[in-house]
Amino acid sequence: MSNRGKVTKHNLFTDFDGAFEGRLARVISVAANYTSEWAGSAARYDCRIKIRYNKELMAQLEEGMLLAVKNFRGQSKKAVSEGIERYTVMVISKVWPLHYGLGGVNDSHYFPLQMEIIEQSVPDWSTDDQATMMVHMNAVPINYDLVIDKKGEIEFRKGFSYPLVGEKAHVIDLETVDLIYNDKVKKSMGYTKKTTSEDPKKDPRVGVLRMFMESDHQVPIYVDLPKLVRYHFGVFSFTGGGKSNLMSNLFRRILYHEKDTKLVIFDISCEYPFLLSDVFMDSKIPSTIVLEEDPKTPENFARSVVKPRDFEEDPRANDILKAIYDTGKVTYYNRPLTQVPTYGSLMQEMRGLRTENSSRPTYAQAMDELLDFVTNYVNSTGKTEHEEIDTGFVDLLDQEARKAVATFQVHDKSALYAWATTRSTLKKVLSRAKSARQTGITIKELMKKFSGPERVICISIADPDTLRDLVIKLTSAALRYRKRSFEIKPQILFVFDEAQEFIPSGASGHLAQTSASVERLLRQGRKYGLGGAIATQRIAYLNTNILQQLHTFFVGTLPRPYDRTVVSSSFQIDLSILDKTLDFPPGSWLLSSYIATGLDSVPVFVKADNSEDVLKQHIASIKPSSKPKSKPKTVSSDEVEDDDVEQTKLA
Ligand SMILES: Nc1ncnc2c1ncn2[C@@H]1O[C@H](COP(=O)(O)OP(=O)(O)O)[C@@H](O)[C@H]1O
Ligand SMILES: [Mg+2]
Repeated sequence: MSNRGKVTKHNLFTDFDGAFEGRLARVISVAANYTSEWAGSAARYDCRIKIRYNKELMAQLEEGMLLAVKNFRGQSKKAVSEGIERYTVMVISKVWPLHYGLGGVNDSHYFPLQMEIIEQSVPDWSTDDQATMMVHMNAVPINYDLVIDKKGEIEFRKGFSYPLVGEKAHVIDLETVDLIYNDKVKKSMGYTKKTTSEDPKKDPRVGVLRMFMESDHQVPIYVDLPKLVRYHFGVFSFTGGGKSNLMSNLFRRILYHEKDTKLVIFDISCEYPFLLSDVFMDSKIPSTIVLEEDPKTPENFARSVVKPRDFEEDPRANDILKAIYDTGKVTYYNRPLTQVPTYGSLMQEMRGLRTENSSRPTYAQAMDELLDFVTNYVNSTGKTEHEEIDTGFVDLLDQEARKAVATFQVHDKSALYAWATTRSTLKKVLSRAKSARQTGITIKELMKKFSGPERVICISIADPDTLRDLVIKLTSAALRYRKRSFEIKPQILFVFDEAQEFIPSGASGHLAQTSASVERLLRQGRKYGLGGAIATQRIAYLNTNILQQLHTFFVGTLPRPYDRTVVSSSFQIDLSILDKTLDFPPGSWLLSSYIATGLDSVPVFVKADNSEDVLKQHIASIKPSSKPKSKPKTVSSDEVEDDDVEQTKLA
């Protein structure tokens, strides 16, 4: 991969108005202190840079900024003859100031002397005395070379080159960082605007760079949205770190800027009807909200939805939810009253019967025969084990079962005989299921929506078992449908917020089945236009096979060291850079991607646009509550008439 650009050499680097003068002092090779099946095997280096003291620097330099130092590859005969300059690019992982006097203070020194030196350092920091102070910096190579040709055109080439110790360190400036991170991505998305805006309708950006904060200029950060969706992404941070906020921010950008995409949100916390309330009111974006029970009234619906703290007390938050209810897009899940067996569950039942009868070889053989029959039926008709059986199958099964008990002379007083001769009763189960409630939305109707006009299907169900059941059924239905139809469009993104509820590691039973379904979706979905988004506060105990499928990730504050180690080893992000996320306020992220950002696997710190700003605007734009306490100042024409009637009556 390469990024090309026309930034000329003289404005490639910044020295913060002459304040920055640093040299690469040391390169330390570090052994990976953690082992993981995914950790890269490349040797890693830590670089130490020493910088002349300048009081401005401590305010300007930040972790995450990129440095360039000339390297040995630029010394080659070829490079020299072609006039090429090559720099090793590294990312700052730590900056700290050093004071000569303070360094010499020892606990055993005469106490007043210690205090004297310590106190003296305060005025020193505000001078530019380079004899007593220095700035140190650690930086980690990002395995890219910055190559500048004779004409001053730049290119980024993958690979590590050993930097020249003692060489000048350069800080890559804002404009170049913008080019590095965004140029390729914007081109690939066909977004050409030079201006940027936090309005999701106007700009597909995620947010802004969390660097050069002292500068007046802000750099927007883009991710390649089609690739983000297609290659799956994860959002990891503690509760309150802004995961759901970021997700809804990304969803808006996807919906407004990528026409052929749909979202299916498994919303166990029941917060997305509000978090995306502006989207649900947007007539250009067809959508559905599926609840656990029929809310019956707009008030019940508004009450059942969770709102962020800033909106909890605001009555208008309920008003916009009621308005959504009034559009008629809120429905509820019409759970099957009778559980229709699937081919899989039937086979499981049959295997159980076989085990029970294992002491009688002929009975076991009868069951084997029947199991073979079901397996062949499933294979020859192209069905899957997750599908529900139908009446045609029940007739065949009934025939086969009767034949088997006759052939193997199963005793007519045995339980197996009773089972085998009553299979036609399954038809009653099927017809009972058919005549179930007519309201709400059934699983079949939900599946149909995958090829319908809806762009957002938000399933807000707090009961984990019900929601997991839907995850299993809907993800496998989507895969099955896509495999059969050879369609890859529209791209469907399946969203699992609070992912620990769906994909824990080492689960058993229903939960294990759910985890396996999501794993299958992520493994196979890419080929069929099905993507996955995962958000969780505890990454350590998730199904690692699923983490491996994520190509893009946003990491916020993870207070537990073990979680950070898992992120570091799963996604090959340097721990020292990851530790920076500990200082992040909600909404700030370390973003890294193998595929959807400007530089593969190079982390960048972003401040995501706050999704709540959009909600505040949306709330401010709606009419006051339907039953206002005081009369609104502006009234519509019909209300004026009503008023007139009132007045005549009074008069
Ligand atoms: N990008 C952001 N900018 C500013 N504040 C944010 C941002 N993202 C989140 N927050 C704040 O953090 C709070 C928690 O966000 P939320 O998305 O609910 O976190 P999580 O889903 O991780 O628990 C929000 O209510 C909001 O006040
Ligand atoms: Mg959340």
